[in-house]
Amino acid sequence: MWKILVINGPNLNLLGTREPEIYGNMTLDDINARIEARANEADISVDFQQSNYEGDIIGALQSAGSNGYAFIILNAAAFTHYSIAIRDAIAAIDVPVIEVHLSNIHQREEFRHTSVIAPVALGQICGFGADSYMAALEVIIGRLNGSGVEEEE
Ligand code: DQA
Repeated sequence: MWKILVINGPNLNLLGTREPEIYGNMTLDDINARIEARANEADISVDFQQSNYEGDIIGALQSAGSNGYAFIILNAAAFTHYSIAIRDAIAAIDVPVIEVHLSNIHQREEFRHTSVIAPVALGQICGFGADSYMAALEVIIGRLNGSGVEEEE
């Protein structure tokens, strides 16, 4: 079965109560449950990690290949805008990374308009709330189904 990893960065553990006018009312567990339901429907297994620490996120990226993940969905939160270390980790690995954000970072403060990870990500999806993750998952389902590559046992 294909395996994918969803990584959420700092402060996303507070979803539900954190600035709901920007990030909505769903908790991270709610979002993860939606992702899991759709992934299971598509016969994909999904693991979730959240960390407020840059090094944890880098570690998860570095070990994603050896842990057998076919794709990563990453919301690097504020690290998106300045972590060259996370960007370098994405560039260093073979597992494709889809960058997601709940909010439309391009409509917000100027410092959020730059993503230092976008140039090394497969693509960026932002502005659709929890549906940003769901859209990334649909891309992955399409790629895995259409890949023609034999799935691992
Ligand atoms: C975010 C956008 C970032 O600018 C912010 O720092 C976050 C969340 C989003 O999902 O909209 O923490 O990544």
